Amino acid sequence: MIRAATLADLGALVAMEEAFPEVDRFDQPTWRRLLTGRSATLVHETGGTLDANAILLFRKGSDLARLYSISVAPAARGRGLGAKILAACEACARKRGAKRMRLEVRASNSAARRLYDSAGYRVIAALESYYPDGEAAHRMEKVLIASSDGAP
Ligand SMILES: CC(C)(COP(=O)(O)OP(=O)(O)OC[C@H]1O[C@@H](n2cnc3c(N)ncnc32)[C@H](O)[C@@H]1OP(=O)(O)O)[C@@H](O)C(=O)NCCC(=O)NCCS
Repeated sequence: MIRAATLADLGALVAMEEAFPEVDRFDQPTWRRLLTGRSATLVHETGGTLDANAILLFRKGSDLARLYSISVAPAARGRGLGAKILAACEACARKRGAKRMRLEVRASNSAARRLYDSAGYRVIAALESYYPDGEAAHRMEKVLIASSDGAP
């Protein structure tokens, strides 16, 4: 089941990310800010346990939504959960009026890159030394809603 996270999920979200150190983890204050700010956090749960989450950021007056983070618990990967929560993020962004979704992905993250390629995201920029450790990023974007001039 995919649903919007609330402050009641704070502990479970922190615990979920502590379980897999390869992602850029958020601490409790950051999660609290994300759960109460101009953003949306979606979670997937199986049998009452969170096994995937994704964070969307919105800006006032902008039709661009940003996929800030997406992660699936290691034991649940490779079964379509990433694609499912990404699709739910796109539906959520459309509902909030976004016409495009943008994200950055580490150049070395082939699993995430495959997920985004499959979902129709296109690279719009290569960003050298984007991350604090110096790694490059690819900025990717997907059009969510056809514009009025007939473009996809
Ligand atoms: C990236 C991530 C969210 C993918 O989640 P997932 O549930 O395993 O993905 P899915 O099972 O939905 O697979 C989606 C696509 O990615 C591909 N994929 C998933 N894991 C892969 C891997 N390790 N290597 C290559 N491709 C992979 C799948 O084959 C599928 O492609 P297809 O549709 O062409 O067959 C997950 O690996 C993860 O949480 N990684 C750590 C956090 C992270 O890197 N987040 C992204 C930050 S930008």
